[in-house]
Amino acid sequence: MSATRSRPEPSTRRGFALRPASPADAPAIADVLRAAFAAYDGLLQPRPGALSETAESIAAAFADHRGFVALPDAARAGAIGADTVRADAADGRAVGSVLYRREGEGLYLGRLGVLPPWHGKGVGAALVEQVLAAGRAEGAGRVILNVRILLPANVAFFRRLGFREAALGTHAGFSAPTYHVMERRLP
Ligand SMILES: CC(C)(COP(=O)(O)OP(=O)(O)OC[C@H]1O[C@@H](n2cnc3c(N)ncnc32)[C@H](O)[C@@H]1OP(=O)(O)O)[C@@H](O)C(=O)NCCC(=O)NCCS
Repeated sequence: MSATRSRPEPSTRRGFALRPASPADAPAIADVLRAAFAAYDGLLQPRPGALSETAESIAAAFADHRGFVALPDAARAGAIGADTVRADAADGRAVGSVLYRREGEGLYLGRLGVLPPWHGKGVGAALVEQVLAAGRAEGAGRVILNVRILLPANVAFFRRLGFREAALGTHAGFSAPTYHVMERRLP
């Protein structure tokens, strides 16, 4: 297996562009995650760790994680809702993000979030596809992630992207499984 590390080129999609994230994006990524996961606050136990992320914790995560951010792409803004695009494009901040790290022979994908006004526009799928491309580029054998059992729409989202439930996991302090481990074999 190749251990070569190479980053995919930034790619441009409908209404948004993706690029590799850097520690300078940490404040924007923390904002995206808190907004994206806000709907789960009080609903999911344990409380999603993403809700507690800060600029500092995300910056620290870059020690062993890489990631991608999605940014509004004004040149393609006509493809999606104009009001939403103008509001989010004003300061050019990220509208979606994902982090990943090497885990064994594969990659672990986590902290995937998209600002609610941008849901359903392909941002989440594009971010996941970019991690899959990164995995292929460095010869990773698989990408794994955890999805709460209580979020079947998210399980369906990842199934559409080629992931399958591989195991059940239980958060510390819980007596029954709380999440699926989902796996996508590569290439
Ligand atoms: C889950 C999430 C990242 C998906 O991002 P997104 O940009 O809205 O998803 P996309 O637009 O790329 O969706 C791709 C497909 O999944 C569908 N989909 C996405 N989220 C869905 C949901 N919650 N329920 C039903 N379908 C959903 C879309 O309709 C689309 O289907 P299509 O390609 O057949 O049209 C986003 O909803 C989010 O940030 N949620 C809150 C945080 C979260 O749950 N993160 C993941 C933790 S495991």
